[in-house]
Amino acid sequence: MKSFRIALYPGDGIGPEVMAQAVRVLERVQAQDGRFQLDLTHLPWGADYYFQHGRVAPDDLLEQLRGFDAVLLGAVGDPQRLPDHVTLAPLVRIRQSFDQYACLRPCRLFPGVPSLLRHPHPIDLLILRENSEGEYLVCGGRVRQGQAEEVAVQTAVHSRGGVERILRFGLKLALTRRRRLTMITKSNALRYGMVLWDEVLEKVRGEFPEVETDRQHADAAAMDFVRRPQRFDVVVASNLFGDILSDLGGAIIGGLGLAPSANLNPERTAPSMFEPVHGSAPDIAGQGVANPVAMILSSAMMLEWLGLRTAAEAIRTATEAALAGGAKTPDLGGTLTTADMTDQIIKQLEEAK
Ligand code: NAI
Ligand code: MG
Repeated sequence: MKSFRIALYPGDGIGPEVMAQAVRVLERVQAQDGRFQLDLTHLPWGADYYFQHGRVAPDDLLEQLRGFDAVLLGAVGDPQRLPDHVTLAPLVRIRQSFDQYACLRPCRLFPGVPSLLRHPHPIDLLILRENSEGEYLVCGGRVRQGQAEEVAVQTAVHSRGGVERILRFGLKLALTRRRRLTMITKSNALRYGMVLWDEVLEKVRGEFPEVETDRQHADAAAMDFVRRPQRFDVVVASNLFGDILSDLGGAIIGGLGLAPSANLNPERTAPSMFEPVHGSAPDIAGQGVANPVAMILSSAMMLEWLGLRTAAEAIRTATEAALAGGAKTPDLGGTLTTADMTDQIIKQLEEAK
């Protein structure tokens, strides 16, 4: 039997609440499938850990995580108690140090789910966010801190190699879908970094003549996500633009509670990490009403990455069936608790067996 070591990093707020549900679903598909074994290790990192140990995660977190086949993360952030840049630091460090440069964020509007849009169908796009550099590289500084003359400099770093590899990854993905790729740019204003992106697209798209490519400025793309999301198939964006468009993508498919993501190291030189797009949602944490679907679908993306396609598909199908059957947490206008929603998904898993 194939066995996989999975690190669970539930984090803060609703992170542990939705993680517990994903674990229930994973255990169920594992029992049903019977051909693989998941060895789950629970890591208690986050804000609580900080108040016991003086840091949100141990200094050697990367060494600890390196031996795992994948990391499954809930959400981090406890803004009432700690600044976000402290709680989110391990997350950014894992993504960058493990070279998880390809962040995949599928946005599909499932039958039965209300969208904010009036004429939404069909929405089936895939955001591919550059996850290792760009605007989120820790590069900059502050001088004259706290004084009226203070200056902060934050430098975005876009490398030719970094842009080439994410665009090639996106073009390959497009080949498995509707063969369209839209690259998000802003080269009308960001005349160094984004002009490089434009030039690299011109270069690499020739290698994929079957894929239709175009580019769109980030502001106009935001408008089209609302106005005509059907126009998009694969959307490749820099770290910051991809981050922003992901929340918009989540909103148009019914909310962040439904949006999964994968931070992939495509060369598999380090573990990849799977997490919902959403954060720790302090406004609803502790109430047991968070929607677990984004977390559950993220765990399906993990199984797919580990080569467990049948199990991944079983989770996706069961989740879609539960939603189509009207299962709704409060964010979707329903009354189900986090655990009730998972019960509905598990019921579908059992019925499909
Ligand atoms: P958020 O994604 O946590 O919440 C935004 C809104 O969406 C809230 O109204 C929330 O209730 C709702 N929401 C999110 N997930 C939901 C779910 N599963 N079910 C139902 N409703 C859901 O973003 P926000 O409020 O900007 O950030 C809160 C904290 O999370 C901050 O500390 C932030 O830094 C952190 N954060 C962490 C991320 C991560 O761990 N990858 C990503 C984004 C934010
Ligand atoms: Mg985000």
